[in-house]
Amino acid sequence: MPTADGRLAGKAAVITGAASGIGRASALRFAREGARLVLADTQGAAGEALVREIEQAGGTARFVCVDVGRRADNERMLGLCVERYGSLDILFCNAGVNLPKELTGSADDEIDRVLDVNVKGPLYAARHAIPIMVRQAAGGVILFTASKTGLVAQTDSPVYCASKGAVVLLAKALALDYAARGIRVNALCPGIIDTPMLHQFADAMPDPAAAWAAYSTAQPLGRLGTPEECAEAALWLVSPEASFVTGVALPVDGGFTAM
Ligand SMILES: NC(=O)c1ccc[n+]([C@@H]2O[C@H](COP(=O)([O-])OP(=O)(O)OC[C@H]3O[C@@H](n4cnc5c(N)ncnc54)[C@H](O)[C@@H]3O)[C@@H](O)[C@H]2O)c1
Repeated sequence: MPTADGRLAGKAAVITGAASGIGRASALRFAREGARLVLADTQGAAGEALVREIEQAGGTARFVCVDVGRRADNERMLGLCVERYGSLDILFCNAGVNLPKELTGSADDEIDRVLDVNVKGPLYAARHAIPIMVRQAAGGVILFTASKTGLVAQTDSPVYCASKGAVVLLAKALALDYAARGIRVNALCPGIIDTPMLHQFADAMPDPAAAWAAYSTAQPLGRLGTPEECAEAALWLVSPEASFVTGVALPVDGGFTAM
């Protein structure tokens, strides 16, 4: 149940990729802290069901069906937030797609799709959000979901790695450009997290069972991360408790990038 003194009380937040995995867990967590939400995703039924779940718990949320790879969809989603709630305090660009293939086997349209969703989506959203946030007395906070693969490479995912590396540097570059204008920008870098995306990734491997077993033990903490653990880190990064934190790429990876 959201409380009036929640860590995000009074804040209006947009979360992309909100219908599943890390985005869904973040939506539930932000709502509990009092945020009013615009939840954006391509998956309409799951997004609407999440809105009902949040509302039944006393929270406030709207769903908007978008493809974040399209500029106009990003603008529509952000406009809805300002129209409904009167401000845009938090933008969490979390939607992403994977491409578990070697570069030589990757088709043009597959490469375009990953770059559109993972890189151009956050670029479009941030470009539209920043002028809104700059005009607000309280500024704003932007968070991108990058990945540990934006910090260290992994095999068989060069396009995905390139996209996530771009997002890490986008966060840092925007943090520098807008620090003096009241906007903090950070990147969340999940490790291997138990979400539908990870299941799809494992299923695409030659031996899915072996791949799954390897993921489960690859991180020093000896297990997969959970969407809820990522949501806790996301909450902290967008909350006032992180008021002096900008330009950071925060691994939530059970120690993976410490190796
Ligand atoms: N699961 C992991 O191990 C892991 C690790 C590192 C980074 N990530 C990143 O975390 C983010 C969330 O992934 P997840 O693991 O929760 O996966 P997920 O598949 O559970 O959720 C991703 C969500 O994004 C939505 N989405 C995809 N393309 C979209 C588009 N064009 N427009 C709007 N919504 C779209 C999907 O419908 C889905 O609801 C992604 O950016 C992903 O790259 C995940």
